[in-house]
Amino acid sequence: MRHRVTLIPGDGIGPEVAEAARAVVDATGVEVEWDVQEAGAASLEREGTPLPERVLDSVRRSRTALKGPITTPVGSGFRSVNVALRQELDLFAAVRPARHFPGLPSRHPGVDLVTIRENTEDLYRGIEFERGAPETDRLRAALLDLAGYRVPDDAGVTVKPISITGTRRVVRYALEYAQRNGRRFVTVGHKANIMKFSDGVFLATALEVAEEYPEVDVREMQVDEMAMWLAWEPETLDVVLLPNLYGDIVSDLSAGLVGGLGVAPGANLGWEYAVFEPVHGSAPDIAGRGVANPVAIILSAAMMLRHLAEDAAAERVEAAVAELLRDGGTLTPDMGGTARTLDVAGAIARLAT
Ligand code: NAI
Ligand code: MG
Repeated sequence: MRHRVTLIPGDGIGPEVAEAARAVVDATGVEVEWDVQEAGAASLEREGTPLPERVLDSVRRSRTALKGPITTPVGSGFRSVNVALRQELDLFAAVRPARHFPGLPSRHPGVDLVTIRENTEDLYRGIEFERGAPETDRLRAALLDLAGYRVPDDAGVTVKPISITGTRRVVRYALEYAQRNGRRFVTVGHKANIMKFSDGVFLATALEVAEEYPEVDVREMQVDEMAMWLAWEPETLDVVLLPNLYGDIVSDLSAGLVGGLGVAPGANLGWEYAVFEPVHGSAPDIAGRGVANPVAIILSAAMMLRHLAEDAAAERVEAAVAELLRDGGTLTPDMGGTARTLDVAGAIARLAT
């Protein structure tokens, strides 16, 4: 079956690693019709926006996208393109596996964690009140009236909404993911003891939904305690389910446990659309030199193949990456080697053919 996929190369190292991932997917023999859509720095210059509507339209048509990183322009009035994309397409669940591959230096061989992060609500919703703005003065007056709380007049404020509807769907997704992938248990991270009315909703909803899935072992843990276990004995966690902000932090932490951003893949999923992208950013410090590590986006492409029900091809790609890392002869500089992006892609493509 032929699949249509939107390819968003992104900017910085994005085009380099996206090209590598496309070559690997094509080498598996799975037939993909790529709809390449530029976004990011070049689109900002040419079209006045880093995320033109045509990009979203293309993903709405293909339903599936593979995406390189996109730089968040600083101080130009644009919030993160990546956050905007997740919100526009309602990609409410981010899935970020962190699996240790033999051969990679790590203090914790044997780690095999999956972070599932709520992707649309929480402090990342973008409800912000700038210090000194007139709206902020009105908010301060309202908070004094409603809560008897005097917000300092030199404070900026970010609002943290967490809803039952927003939480329920990501919890269902996480528990079904655990079931489908034979995971041992799901730990819900929160600070419901402190933030009773936001994290409290997250936790209560998670535990309520868990009752519909008696065969999944669901546990809960305060996120600071989770941080301690992740540093101390990460093998004691399996799938972790978190609100947006904690999920962002914990997934980067988990990537660090298994060999760094160069090997950390991710997926952003909603009911209708799925966008696969590495956890790392556009790495401006090494962009354009052909030395970026393509493994993270290649593993993201493997997740995409599985999503497209091309399981055999996905397994070949993952086995090829495992073989490459075990062998250690073809690695990019971030992993201590001297190989170039396209050497790594070529080696993986040959192993996955
Ligand atoms: P970054 O992930 O781009 O870079 C952090 C460090 O890791 C750098 O030293 C970089 O060279 C290295 N690195 C990252 N990916 C690598 C790879 N594949 N191979 C070898 N080395 C790699 O994070 P940073 O510097 O904080 O962000 C740069 C830009 O990327 C920012 O504008 C940020 O907003 C954006 N960004 C975009 C994301 C996305 O598109 N989903 C995610 C994270 C950041
Ligand atoms: Mg992050």
